[in-house]
Order: sequence, then C-alpha cells, then structure tokens
Amino acid sequence: MSEGGTFLITGATGPVAEATIALLAKRGDALLLTGRNEARLAELERTYGTPGRIETFATDVTTEEGATAAAEAALSRLGRLDGLIHMVGSFHAGPVFLTRVADYDRLMRANFLSAVHATQAVLPHLGNGGRLVFFGSPLASEPLAALGGYAAAKAALLAWMRALSHEVKHRGIHANAVIMTMADTPQARQERPHVDFDQAITPELVARAVAFLTGEGADGLYGGLVPVMGRFGFSSALAGPPPKAG
Ligand SMILES: NC(=O)c1ccc[n+]([C@@H]2O[C@H](COP(=O)([O-])OP(=O)(O)OC[C@H]3O[C@@H](n4cnc5c(N)ncnc54)[C@H](OP(=O)(O)O)[C@@H]3O)[C@@H](O)[C@H]2O)c1
Repeated sequence: MSEGGTFLITGATGPVAEATIALLAKRGDALLLTGRNEARLAELERTYGTPGRIETFATDVTTEEGATAAAEAALSRLGRLDGLIHMVGSFHAGPVFLTRVADYDRLMRANFLSAVHATQAVLPHLGNGGRLVFFGSPLASEPLAALGGYAAAKAALLAWMRALSHEVKHRGIHANAVIMTMADTPQARQERPHVDFDQAITPELVARAVAFLTGEGADGLYGGLVPVMGRFGFSSALAGPPPKAG
C-alpha cells in the first residue's frame, strides 16, 4: 500500500493516539477519528480537522451498532477505507481473586470485543488489500501478579488477531499488532508518580510503528507482533546485571 491511505482510528481520544494522528496526517493520510469522549474529539477536530480528509465521529465501537456506524461514517465522509487502527483499550490492576466479574467484563469488552466489532464492521469495505493494526502488551505472554485481568484480555486480542490474519491475508489484508509497554504521557505521570519514565516508551515511537505497519515497509507482515518496548525488561534477582562491553 502506498502512503496516503484512508484509515479509521478507533480510541482516538486516548493519550497514546495523538502522536499517531499527527504523524499520519503529516504523511497525507485521510483519517476518521472516533471515541465516545465528545470534548476530546472536539479538541482533535480543532487541531487536525480538515473536511473530507480528517474528521471526527462520536461512537462506541464496543457495540456492533457503534462499530458499524464508525465504518459507514468513514466511507461516507472520506470516500474509501484502507484499514483500521484500533486503539480502544482499558486497564485494571488488582489481584485476580479480588477482581470483580464486572471489571473482567469491561476489560474484555474494551480490549478484545471492541476489536472484533470494529474489524467485522471494516472488513466488508476493504476489498482486496488493507491494514489492521491492534495494540497489545508484553503482559499477554508474561502475565504478572495483579495484572491478570488486563493480561487475559490482551492475550485474547492477540490470539484472535493472529487467527484473523490467516483468514484475511489471502485478500491482501495485513493484521498486525504493536506490543507496547507503558507510554510516557501526562496522564501516566500523574497517575503513577513512582514510575521511572526513563524505561517507558513515547507515543511518538508508537506512531512510527503504526506508520510502518500501515505503509509499504510492512508489505511482508501478516499476524506480526511488533515490539515497541523501549528499555523495558522483566527483571529477576536471579538474572544479574546486563553484561559489560569488552
Ligand atoms: N498507555 C499505555 O501505557 C499502554 C501500554 C500498553 C498498551 N496500551 C494499549 O495501547 C492502546 C492505546 O493506549 P491508550 O493509553 O491511549 O488507550 P486507553 O486510554 O486505555 O483507551 C483508548 C480509548 O479507548 C476508549 N475506551 C476505554 N475504555 C472503554 C470502554 N470500557 N468502552 C468503550 N471505550 C473505551 C476511550 O475512548 P472514549 O472514552 O472516547 O470512548 C479511550 O480514550 C490501547 O489499546 C492500550 O490498551 C497502552
């Protein structure tokens, strides 16, 4: 796919999305930005809005109706659709045995079922060729204490994405995921003052990976898990320090 594609960005209201919106807008892509948060969509509209090229649309893609409305709005406002950048997600920390089923339900709906709805809404419009980009976490394959609900929801998303990629690659549709650690955003700094953000990644690094996955550079990738992990690593007292050069 050459640059200048047309993409639906779901979860465009989140703290990670803006760098991706800015980079793809600069590349010349057409974008429909969706979320439920109308105030944030209005801010994005003021900064990036360009009629017929970058538009916003309030909807909840965790429902079939909301996802269908998003795909139809992308087509009617932008004229075509080349893919989906699905940034909807939700986080929860707490011991698995104390986490309420309602919280598991929300995590599964936001992280996994929203991707199913959004993808099913977009796929009929892609024809032969397209890009689907999802967002996972290293916790999906290495779950840690107190993060089991989130890890399970991202694991479901990634297993499903890999199966999906086998189904759609014959139509030239590439489904891939960015596997990312904590992003350095003003929200994250406010919520987690104890974190060493030297180990975090930036939304700009995520944006570059999304640009790659929606560009010609990723023509050979189907079902890929692309790590944007910065200097993050799982540590253990048994592992010892990193080796010294020389
Ligand atoms: N931030 C990080 O450090 C980090 C780390 C690893 C992976 N990720 C993943 O990367 C993606 C983007 O990150 P982010 O931090 O920008 O995402 P986020 O803030 O967790 O979620 C993005 C958007 O999803 C929508 N959303 C959240 N909960 C929802 C719910 N229960 N029902 C429907 N919509 C809901 C919200 O939009 P509306 O309220 O406008 O609908 C929100 O702005 C997400 O998939 C996230 O899980 C992020």
